[in-house]
Amino acid sequence: MRIIHDIREMQTASRAARIQGSAIGFVPTMGALHAGHLSLVRRARTLSSLVVVSIFVNPLQFGPTEDFSQYPRTLEADCAKLEAENVDIVFAPSPQQMYPASATTVVHVEGLSDKLDGRSRPGHFRGVSTVVAKLFHIVQPDYAVFGQKDAAQVAVLRRMVRDLNMDVELVVAPIVREADGLALSSRNIYLTKEQRLQALVLHRALLQLEACVNSGETSAEKLRAVALSVLASEPAAKLDYLEVVHPDTLDPVTDLAQGALAAVAASFGSTRLIDNLLLPPRGSDAA
Ligand code: PAJ
Repeated sequence: MRIIHDIREMQTASRAARIQGSAIGFVPTMGALHAGHLSLVRRARTLSSLVVVSIFVNPLQFGPTEDFSQYPRTLEADCAKLEAENVDIVFAPSPQQMYPASATTVVHVEGLSDKLDGRSRPGHFRGVSTVVAKLFHIVQPDYAVFGQKDAAQVAVLRRMVRDLNMDVELVVAPIVREADGLALSSRNIYLTKEQRLQALVLHRALLQLEACVNSGETSAEKLRAVALSVLASEPAAKLDYLEVVHPDTLDPVTDLAQGALAAVAASFGSTRLIDNLLLPPRGSDAA
């Protein structure tokens, strides 16, 4: 496995692979890798002969009061995990190379970037779309694999790829969870034992919502009310949002005719966690 820190060197390696006819599968990450990230790596492996994983804690997507400096940086352990997955290249650039002092160009997906997480984290998605556009230019992947865990991120990046005619196929992999249902996240390490238990309410709320769907409920407002009542049973959860939205536009829906995304974000202490559930089309208008 090659570990590349230099942008030019990564570009040269990608160009050489493409000339040889290798399909490049790419998994962008911020490191502190867990089984969720590794599931994306395995998915990339099924699609491509060259697998590239980037590890870059992107300063541009953190707000001034967020956890950028605290975010876990575990490059050595991450590389060991990726080597065991037969990854070909780890790309770990420095912030100075990615953002020279004179850099002023950004990619901003208007509108979508202000919804869900974007509403409570101003500038977050602008940082995500900018860094992912840069990484795509550097790595030149045929496939890029992202997790459904960050559903709003998926919507923003899909729109960016479509609007800017980027020649890459976005592949979305399912949420990997702990045995008790908590979605894996690099931020779970911030949780105390007590908060770790409290955080299970996110998954419980989504499961209850899903149970209602399975028993025939199609009103988004009613489904939302059911999930909110579960969340209210855990007073330690500071709710940011719980919404039932269209998975592409992130706008609230009234029913499940076109399918929907039930998405939730809440803080436990100072740790903000997200989770979601994709709901297939249901009801009278569903094809
Ligand atoms: P990061 O939080 O490290 O996540 C990297 C990828 O792993 C994302 O696509 C995310 O959705 C996926 N992922 C995280 N937890 C997961 C889980 N439990 N199951 C499945 N997939 C999971 O997302 C980012 O980094 C950054 O915003 C990035 C795209 C790298 C841009 O900086």
